[in-house]
Amino acid sequence: MRDITGNLIISGSTVKAAMQQLNEGIDGILLCTDEDGVMQGLLTDGDVRRALLQGADLSDPVKSIMNRAFISGNVENSREENLKILDSVIRHVPILDSAGKPVDMVSWSELWRLPITTPSLAGNELKYVADCIETVWISSQGGYIEGFQNAFSAYHGSGMALCTSSGTTALHLALVALGIGPGDEVVVPDITFGASANVVVHTGARPVFVDVHPETLTMDVQCLKGAITENTKAVMPVHLYGHPCDMDPIIEIAQNYDLRVVEDCAEALGAEYKGQKVGLLGDVGCFSFFANKVITTGEGGMVLTKDHDLFDRLSLYRDHGMSKDRKYWHLVPGFNYRMTNLQAAVGLAQLERIDHFLQQRDRVVDTYYNRLKDIAGIKTPLTASWARNIHWLYSIIVIPEILGIDREELALELHKHGIETRPVFPPLHAQPAYRGQDGSFPTSEYFAAHGLSLPTGNTLSVQEADHVGEMIRRVVQA
Ligand SMILES: Cc1ncc(COP(=O)(O)O)c(C=O)c1O
Repeated sequence: MRDITGNLIISGSTVKAAMQQLNEGIDGILLCTDEDGVMQGLLTDGDVRRALLQGADLSDPVKSIMNRAFISGNVENSREENLKILDSVIRHVPILDSAGKPVDMVSWSELWRLPITTPSLAGNELKYVADCIETVWISSQGGYIEGFQNAFSAYHGSGMALCTSSGTTALHLALVALGIGPGDEVVVPDITFGASANVVVHTGARPVFVDVHPETLTMDVQCLKGAITENTKAVMPVHLYGHPCDMDPIIEIAQNYDLRVVEDCAEALGAEYKGQKVGLLGDVGCFSFFANKVITTGEGGMVLTKDHDLFDRLSLYRDHGMSKDRKYWHLVPGFNYRMTNLQAAVGLAQLERIDHFLQQRDRVVDTYYNRLKDIAGIKTPLTASWARNIHWLYSIIVIPEILGIDREELALELHKHGIETRPVFPPLHAQPAYRGQDGSFPTSEYFAAHGLSLPTGNTLSVQEADHVGEMIRRVVQA
């Protein structure tokens, strides 16, 4: 049952009091009762506005302007039955007990589902895909592949871009092209999506996990130093949740120990480190265009590098290891990690709107921050002074000792209001695939236990973010 105390008003109260109460809530509706709590009428924002325009006075009683012909549900019915009363016009229905007193309310927001992310495909996506179909260029050759790759390099100011079938294959390809293999070790942060470590295993090398920094939640540079052995061949800084890693010290360590640097930019397209976009800071940057990413091609990825020799090896391994000069002549045992022209068509259309997507994300992030910053027990994400954080998923930390509820309880309450959330990635060292690695990971363990991602997709409006923030405030203050 919902707490409806904030929606109840005695019908003898003044219109002014009703306006104040409406202003404090977010439903925009009051349930007007007599002194005994029996429902007499409904009052919405709109009712008050119309009444004032028709000459009502702020000191008039609510009962003179309330809507007496209201529809109600019955507490004896199931919530599902009561929800069926709602439609596009009836957005809130009071639920009455046998004495006619409102004890609950069902609202359209319960039917409304706010997913964690939804891609926006409202640009040239359809037009470009239709063009692929009409011209029958649907496989891994065609103008959109080159167009997308060129546009991607241009977006990064320089470098050579090569489309892949996913972010995972981009990472695997990068490691293979850099010569990582059996007996090698690759340092990976303990918190990331599993693909970052899985691909290391698929080269025959071993991922070595390190803890993350408490501020950026990306690879902790001190831990990186401590993890290097004579077998270490590469380091994979992951720009987690859209926050760039502190790359200067990582590059310095890599240079000192002759390590390759594979940036995992899957979640960070457009993020910047000291004014430079991520992806060209190490040897190679790998991006993902899965549907929940900043731009999408459905499934898809990209590798980006400034190194011509490396680019040639990436192309070779991506295309079955086949020679460009001789048909069906395999120079190395490669892969088919190509993207289709259809996917690239979507990717190009998406990239045309990236500035808009990132600006919209900034507005959503500001809204979340303003709504949540004063709630003791909720820690909003930090951004280092040198970073442009693109907040792939806006992830808060829930501190149960202060808040009184834990992450799971908060997630459950938000779910009841149609708001999808996600716990952040669990630490890799604790997962069945990777259990048994020594080490101390206090920060990743804490973040994994308390981090909760809120809806942050490209279609999320400021109003929706405001609604999510307000629902969090209500839940934690209940
Ligand atoms: C950090 C990170 N690395 C790699 C990947 C793998 O990308 P994909 O799903 O495109 O294979 C993802 C996301 O899915 C990711 O979040």
